[in-house]
Amino acid sequence: MCGIVGYIGHRDAYPIIIKGLKRLEYRGYDSAGLVLYDGKDLKLCKTKGKVSDLEEKVAKEISTEGHIGFGHTRWATHGVPNDVNSHPHFSNSGKLAIVHNGIIENYEPLKKELIKRGYVFHSDTDTEVLINLIEDVQKTDNLKLGKAVQVALNQVVGAYAIVVFDVNKPDELVCARLGSPLAIGIGEDEYFVASDASPFIEFTSNAIYLEDEEMAIIRLNKPMKVRKIKDDSLVDPYVQELQMNLEQIEKGGYEHFMLKEIYEQPNVIKDTYRGRLLANKGIIQMSGVEDNLEKFTNAKRILIIACGTSWHAGLVAEYVIEEFARIPVEVEYASEFRYRNPIINKDDVVIAISQSGETADTLAAIKLAKENGAFVFGVCNVVGSSISRETDAGAYTHAGPEIGVASTKAFTTQITILTLIALRLAKAKGTMNHSDYQRYLLELEMIPEKVQEALQTNDVAKTIAEIYKDVPNALYLGRGFNFPVALEGALKLKEISYIHAEGYPAAEMKHGPIALIDEQMPVIVIAPNKGHYDKVVSNIQEIKSRSGKIIAVVTKGDTQVKALADHVIEIPETSEALTPLLTTIPLQLLSYHIAVLRGCNVDQPRNLAKSVTVE
Ligand code: F6R
Repeated sequence: MCGIVGYIGHRDAYPIIIKGLKRLEYRGYDSAGLVLYDGKDLKLCKTKGKVSDLEEKVAKEISTEGHIGFGHTRWATHGVPNDVNSHPHFSNSGKLAIVHNGIIENYEPLKKELIKRGYVFHSDTDTEVLINLIEDVQKTDNLKLGKAVQVALNQVVGAYAIVVFDVNKPDELVCARLGSPLAIGIGEDEYFVASDASPFIEFTSNAIYLEDEEMAIIRLNKPMKVRKIKDDSLVDPYVQELQMNLEQIEKGGYEHFMLKEIYEQPNVIKDTYRGRLLANKGIIQMSGVEDNLEKFTNAKRILIIACGTSWHAGLVAEYVIEEFARIPVEVEYASEFRYRNPIINKDDVVIAISQSGETADTLAAIKLAKENGAFVFGVCNVVGSSISRETDAGAYTHAGPEIGVASTKAFTTQITILTLIALRLAKAKGTMNHSDYQRYLLELEMIPEKVQEALQTNDVAKTIAEIYKDVPNALYLGRGFNFPVALEGALKLKEISYIHAEGYPAAEMKHGPIALIDEQMPVIVIAPNKGHYDKVVSNIQEIKSRSGKIIAVVTKGDTQVKALADHVIEIPETSEALTPLLTTIPLQLLSYHIAVLRGCNVDQPRNLAKSVTVE
């Protein structure tokens, strides 16, 4: 939540900051702002609204000269989104400026104390408290900026990624992180700071990711210094070579990132199993699993923790792991798990799933599981993210940057990894006969091609979207492996189109939701010709006899459901356990088209942010 981008060097800072903010806008888009220092003046411009609104305001209000500066795109926590609460914030003297991503939990007592000491506050934010605290420390103890930031941060409870500037030290930026990500790009005689590497990818491929409780002092033409905030010890930062490229973070001709990411799924699923699935040889190899195979095979239970769409991928995994490897699986919302005094045993394996690798609740749940002695395995998409570092081992989904706020390709690549794990464990435990194992491997290898075919449902999905775009409610039903897909389909629709939608196991319908069904209610039923097909057909009949409108996702060639449904969307045939990888596709497309037709901001739905770094 919230995106930060900063620059110090020989180039004009403004274009780098504004372009960087656009790339980071997925992290929050309530308001935006920036400061630039031109050697004389510290120029501030900020506004409620999007980065494009900021751009317009800058053109009217400030000159854009300056080789040092930083900007912010906000997802509000403390204080409503308005011009005043937007970042950057200044200290009372007007000499210090800050941008902040995170929450200062003890801001109230700190603010009271600062008010007693004569400080005046203009905004409702916790960030303004922090910058005045830094100023107060700096003045009281006559400290340099870096030291003052360090002393102030040691008084703070909460989470932060910050960048601070002092007009009295105009060749220096001070950055620090605890719980919110911050990357520093290292160029020739220049540095970039950002919440992820996308704002500086065209300038440098060398970057460091600050660890929690680390701060960096970046000075023009000097080597960067990284220190531990707590004990002041110097850290030798690890400079990474970035894997990201520019093409991955641009729309590539698609109208929206979400659509581009939906269409990337055949490739990214392949990227995710490449080198791990050697179907012809009957081999699945993932170093994180191989190195810990005994822990997995001896596990009495696998606990999966995640949030949102990643939680839905966890639910699919519950079905797949239990079916293939016969290990009991429990799936928990990370936010519940962390606060309910859960029973965690030493021989539990915990799998944490997160696209961003920064979700605060998931991170806290991982720490709790580790404290209780569990082995924690991460399934993350963002390389070097906090969760990937906090877990004992893991496997990356190679989905590439996911910029649309609604998760699509992360979901299917998470399912791919989790299915690989399930198959590997089935082999190790001998819970699946060899011919089934071999068949699944070959079928998994065919999935990208079938996803490609499933993408051809785009036109049908669009036609159906045109018919139902104005409905107030929708119901999604699925059974077995496709029950989580029903939940995911409903989440996709509500988050980007603001239509109320619910997902249910199809058989649960008659225990309540059936009361909602009338001729206005579209019911999206996932009905591949496998598993409990006949039962789903009965559920469809129950909807039909109450005049509900049936949109069914069926296997190509289906006739029975076709005869009952108002609309069908056909997907290719595959084994039941792999159907979620295909049934998901038309549901993503349906939500996408409905949202576009309703004029919604598909890539940046209201009130949401891509990476939820606050609890
Ligand atoms: C929905 C969506 C969210 C995320 C959730 C967890 O489309 O994107 O529900 O899945 O916030 O995020 P990660 O996977 O980054 O931990």
